[in-house]
Amino acid sequence: MYRSKITGLGFHVPDRILKNDDLKQWMDTSDEWIRERSGIQERHWVSEKEAASDLALAASKKAMIMAGVGADEIDLVIVATISSDYFFPGVANQLQSKLGLRTVGTFDIKVACSAFVYGLSIADQFIKTGQHKTILIVGAEAQSKYIDLTTRGRDMGVLFGDGAGAAILQQSGDESGILSTHIHSDGADMKNLWMEAPGTSGNNWMNRETLKNGLHHPYMNGREVFRNAVRRFPEVIHEALEENNLSIEDIKLVIPHQANYRISQAVAKRLGVGMDVVYSNIHKYGNTTAASIPIALTEAHAEGRIERGDHIILAAFGAGYSWASAAIRW
Ligand code: UT7
Repeated sequence: MYRSKITGLGFHVPDRILKNDDLKQWMDTSDEWIRERSGIQERHWVSEKEAASDLALAASKKAMIMAGVGADEIDLVIVATISSDYFFPGVANQLQSKLGLRTVGTFDIKVACSAFVYGLSIADQFIKTGQHKTILIVGAEAQSKYIDLTTRGRDMGVLFGDGAGAAILQQSGDESGILSTHIHSDGADMKNLWMEAPGTSGNNWMNRETLKNGLHHPYMNGREVFRNAVRRFPEVIHEALEENNLSIEDIKLVIPHQANYRISQAVAKRLGVGMDVVYSNIHKYGNTTAASIPIALTEAHAEGRIERGDHIILAAFGAGYSWASAAIRW
């Protein structure tokens, strides 16, 4: 069995920045409300011409440069996204083509905010068994294209941002690398965070009714999702600690999905650590769903917050509900 390790990281966000006050042109909201309830100050949104695969491509190129890996060395492409360029095929397929790759396997993971950690978990298995040597995993979202930009959708509209983060996973030649991954899901309350259309469950394809009722925009029961998030984040972080006989004091940095600064604060409190241990960059990017963890990981690494030998934990919670963690020795 081989251990896998992250050898390259990169992220890309679109040029267009929207401050909280900019959103007032579409909905009844305020900078004060958004900052107080979520910690968000601004977010990046794609232009009309940009797609999730464009963001994924830019992030991938940076990760490949850091890893010193050419496109011809990549033998699997995984994209975590709910912002597919087309209904099908997936973004990984578009990314493959934009990278000039041919014939290697590609697939998307549609587990929303937990999807990047799911992708890491899947890629880790392929590296461990020796089936693949170099895997590109990307989280990429262009959510601004389908959020409800009216007062009706303001609870989610102010939270979402666009962006992509990428990682190259390869065999590790030493003790560093992914120590464990845990993935979980519970579909019982999936309607607390979902997008009903377009779908094939009854009459929820594109039609007058779905459009009129806004079913083609995401819906969230914020309070319920919040309540579950502050429960599942610590739970899955403790699972990672126990698996590796580590205590929270051994962890240099927890990198949670950037859903809400208040959620991260609640998680830090439950873990018994300060916010210096729980990474946050939500003020700059908002909630970028599957892209948030690889963007945060790339930034934390670039800022020197993660050094060789450090233990870190990636933790995710989101739609599904789904939740996941990865423990890594850098
Ligand atoms: O990434 C997936 C995981 N996502 C999450 O984990 C998000 C979890 N949930 C949350 O982060 C929070 O629930 C929100 C930030 C979405 C909302 O914060 P909240 O403190 O739970 O507010 P609320 O939904 O209870 O709404 C409070 C009030 C309501 O008005 P009334 O009924 O009290 O008069 C809302 O209508 O705030 C109103 N409101 C807004 N006001 C201004 C909701 N959205 C906005 C807005 N601007 N954008």
